[in-house]
Amino acid sequence: MRIYSRILGTGSYLPEKRLTNADLAAELAQQGVETSDEWIVERTGIRARHFAASTQGSSDLATEAARRAIEAAGITAHDLDLIIVATSTPDMVFPSVATMVQNKLGAAGCPAFDVQAVCTGFIYAVSIADAMIQSGAAKRALVIGAEVFSRILDFKDRTTCVLFGDGAGAVVLEASEQPGILATDIHADGKHRDILCVPGHVSGGQVLGDPVLKMDGQAVFKLAVRVLEETARASLAKANLQDTDIDWLIPHQANIRIMQSTAKKLKTPDEKVVVTVDQHGNTSAASIPLALDTAVRDGRIQRGQTLMLEGVGGGFTWGSVLVRY
Ligand code: UT7
Repeated sequence: MRIYSRILGTGSYLPEKRLTNADLAAELAQQGVETSDEWIVERTGIRARHFAASTQGSSDLATEAARRAIEAAGITAHDLDLIIVATSTPDMVFPSVATMVQNKLGAAGCPAFDVQAVCTGFIYAVSIADAMIQSGAAKRALVIGAEVFSRILDFKDRTTCVLFGDGAGAVVLEASEQPGILATDIHADGKHRDILCVPGHVSGGQVLGDPVLKMDGQAVFKLAVRVLEETARASLAKANLQDTDIDWLIPHQANIRIMQSTAKKLKTPDEKVVVTVDQHGNTSAASIPLALDTAVRDGRIQRGQTLMLEGVGGGFTWGSVLVRY
């Protein structure tokens, strides 16, 4: 009998501070940086994003999302035997955000660790949790994507600072004989390091290099459109399904144009694509679980439906998870 990882519950959290494009443009104008609502909406589909308070770290956002997912799953934190957090913006160099979340939840004892695959982080983390559940190493896993990208943005660079936001999303996975995760597919190609990176690091008690996000937007765009189709097709093939079997496409929320182009290639009508980029901006590893939780809670996603989750990001990394919800 095959063991599946079934999604028991989802949760998400957005920090209180919300900035529309007009709010952000007004703040940037004070520093002599020119942008507009029109440009941001036309090129990206983003209308607003949330920024964490200075007192909040990824672990705070992650814990709030986790509490909501645990409640939706109808379990307690003590029932968890694995915690994985996908993040590129940890509270500290170490320990991991996952161990901080574990402590805040009061779930001491189970393994807890972070995964760093930038915007593909949640897909990587779910793939690892699924493999551990299938192997019998875990039975109830909490998987979280959490980011405070506002901390690593260069607010003098209008080509990147208008794109990102902060937030967290989480799922509780449980070992089940009922279908759950049908297939996973993850990849990386390190030669693309420089088109999306934060080149700074800590050494000798100092921050060396530039600790803010750098991106060659057009290079990322072209790569993203290609690999998002490839990885979706790879997951479908592993599960012996067709693109027409997808009920909901839940892609990484970076740019509405990338999402629409991927949907077209997968013959998925726009109505079947979960879009939150307009309200959240790009929240990196948090974007897919945030979108998933949004569509679960507003009733669009129903039990028994087939979901295609897919992401792409720095590294370069990319991947997908095909789920029977
Ligand atoms: O999560 C990781 C994955 N990341 C992504 O998927 C991002 C992928 N890339 C993109 O989404 C797009 O490439 C961007 C949204 C980043 C940029 O869109 P684009 O259509 O590729 O614009 P562009 O870079 O070609 O810039 C067009 C123009 C330029 O002006 P000139 O040279 O034509 O005069 C830019 O200087 O738009 C200008 N521009 C802006 N204008 C107003 C760039 N940023 C802004 C801005 N406001 N914020």
